[in-house]
Parts: sequence; C-alpha cells; structure tokens
Amino acid sequence: MYLKNINLKNYRNYSNIKVSFNKGINIIYGNNAQGKTNLLESIYVLALTNTFRNVNDSDLIKKDKLFFRINGLLKNSKLDKNMSIFYDSKKKYMTIDNTDINKVSNYISVMNTILFTPDDLDIIKGPPLVRRKFLNTELSQLYSNYYLLNLEYEKVLKMRNDYLKNGKYDINYYDIITSFMIEKEILIFKIRKKFIDRINNYAPNIFKNITGLSGFKIVYKPNFDFELYNYDKNKILNVFKEKYDSEFKFLSTFYGVHKDDFDFYLDDLNLKSFGSQGQQRLSVLTLKLSEIEIFRKWKENNPILLLDDVFSEIDEIKNNNLLDYLSGDIQVIITAVSLNIFNNDILSKAKIFKIDNGKIKIDKNRRGDFSE
Ligand SMILES: Nc1ncnc2c1ncn2[C@@H]1O[C@H](COP(=O)(O)OP(=O)(O)OP(=O)(O)O)[C@@H](O)[C@H]1O
Ligand SMILES: [Mg+2]
Repeated sequence: MYLKNINLKNYRNYSNIKVSFNKGINIIYGNNAQGKTNLLESIYVLALTNTFRNVNDSDLIKKDKLFFRINGLLKNSKLDKNMSIFYDSKKKYMTIDNTDINKVSNYISVMNTILFTPDDLDIIKGPPLVRRKFLNTELSQLYSNYYLLNLEYEKVLKMRNDYLKNGKYDINYYDIITSFMIEKEILIFKIRKKFIDRINNYAPNIFKNITGLSGFKIVYKPNFDFELYNYDKNKILNVFKEKYDSEFKFLSTFYGVHKDDFDFYLDDLNLKSFGSQGQQRLSVLTLKLSEIEIFRKWKENNPILLLDDVFSEIDEIKNNNLLDYLSGDIQVIITAVSLNIFNNDILSKAKIFKIDNGKIKIDKNRRGDFSE
C-alpha cells in the first residue's frame, strides 16, 4: 500500500497543507525545527490514531487553534481508502471513507506503517517496557484481534492485582481469574513467539547486507515459557499455583506476559551491553526492516516505511547499503537535514520536498524521474 496524499489542518506547525507523495521514495529535507518530524508524525497518527512522541494529543493541535484534522488517501492493491482523524481536545473521531469507526482496533489494522525514529534506540537501550510497547503496537497492526486480546489481558491482570490487594482470598475464585489470565497469556505468547521467529527469518541477512557482519539475531525472553508445558492449561495453572503464597505476600502477579522481554545478539554478544551506538541503531533498524517482510506475508500488502533522520551516526558505506535496500517496491518517506547523504541514484528516483517553517515545496531543481 502507499499513501497518495495527505492533507493537514492545524496540525503542529502546519496550518493547511496538502502533499502528494511518490509511490516509491520520498525525501523531505530542511533545517532543524521546520516540521519534518511533524509531517512524519501526522502520517503515523493517521495510521495509528496516536503519536509515537511522548506528548498529549492536545499538543498536536496547532497553537491557538481548537482542532486538528488529518486526511489521507491510501492506495492498496484491492481498494483505495480515505482515512481521516479529527481531534478537538475532547474526542477523537476516526473515519474511513466517511464512515465513523468507533473501535480503535478496527481502524489501526487498515493502514500499515513502520516507523524508525532516533528515539527507537530505546528499543535496544531502554527498559523492557519499551520493547513490550513495541511488540504491542506492531502486533496490533498485524492482527486486528491482538489489540483487544492485550486489552483483555491487562484488564484481568489489574483485576487479579486488585484482588490481591484486597487481602481476603477465596482460592477457588482466585483459580478462576488465574485460569482466565492463562488463557489470554497463551495466545499472546504464541503470537509474540511467532513474530520473533519470523523476524529471525530475515534479520540476519538484512543486518549482514548493511554491516557485513553475520550472527545477528533477536531472542525472545518470555517471563514464562508456555511452550515448555505444551500449552496445557492445567499443568500451567499448577505451576502458577506454586507462586500463590508469594503473591499473597508481595501483592502482585508473579508470572506473566506483562514481564516479557527480548534482546539483540551478534553471535553470543548482547548488543545492549556490547554494541556500538551505530550497531545499536542498525540493530533496531534491522528489526524494522524485517517487519516489512512480515507485513508482506501476513497482511499481503507492503507497509509504508517512515524513516526520521535515520542516516545520522551511520557511516557512508552502511548508508549506501541501506539506501540500496530501500529502493525496492515499497513507499519510503525519509526526512533529513540535508541532501548530501543521498547518492545520485536515490536522488534521481526520489520525489524531493523542502520544508521551511511549515511550508512545503517540491524541490524542482532536484525533481527526479518519479511516478506519482
Ligand atoms: N502544537 C504546535 N503548534 C505550533 N507549532 C508547533 C506545535 N508543536 C510543535 N511545533 C513546532 O514545530 C517545530 C518542530 O518541528 P519538527 O519536530 O517537525 O522539526 P524537525 O524539522 O523535525 O527538526 P529536527 O531537524 O530538529 O528534527 C518547532 O518549531 C515547534 O515549535
Ligand atoms: Mg525531527
């Protein structure tokens, strides 16, 4: 799929702009603080309803305005779809082809994006919470029922923890909550495991193509290995029961997918501790590029790749390898401070936009041989 155009009204530093994108590579360049990330962010919000930046929705509304609106025309092999998000500080409205969509889960699985931002370095360097958030966001796009499943799991986990804090225990009731929780967890565990297995089908090659190094892999570190018990709910419940006493003492749930994690390895080296800054960036990037293949297979569609300032801190050879990798058949929207990092081959294929203080111009001097 690809985004044919986007229309922003009162979004961040944009008053009212319409941009038509190229089906292949799009480069958006401009000085700092001109609106490059804001534009990518708007595409992400159009797809997922929420921003990846850690701010309130009301911060997305242009200063002194009362609402924002994002419209975009999504083209895919089957149908075109008019996606739209409207927010007025009270409520967010999502529509597809002018029909209101009330459930987030029905909206976010339609337009598939893969985003890379400098903050994604946290996926390797940050706490496990960041990696779980990554899994949850990606899997919600891949499976429309994962979002609900995770929501149900979080609900039952909260119920269980609240019950623990209550101080009076009816073991039969506690068993029922625990069994229900285990049911949800098994499904989440299976999906996460399959996802990471599939990532590893592609990641080692991608990492090798960009860096020349072999032995890259991602290792799922589940808090509880449900597979070890052949997903047998009764056996698993018995193992969970062994921890009841300590749960009653510490008032929190001992086992569960809410404590899952994953790590990046180069052979036996954990890249979180041993990788250089550039290697860590490329590890996360490799994870995201591997996802393209999974979206292709699972959703039978190419996702839209959004790359925010991806080329800083990566040396020229690796930049070129990465750019070669990107000039395939998927839509890529890249931001950069300058065009210097791009080779002529890419520049001739790309549609190039210059951003200046919330205004966007097609760079005609650099207008390549693109198809719209
Ligand atoms: N709600 C808002 N209303 C008006 N302007 C905003 C709003 N939110 C952010 N801005 C402005 O947007 C600009 C930042 O835009 P953005 O983050 O897209 O910059 P950028 O071009 O990506 O810069 P860099 O190269 O430094 O990453 C800032 O000038 C900021 O003041
Ligand atoms: Mg930026």
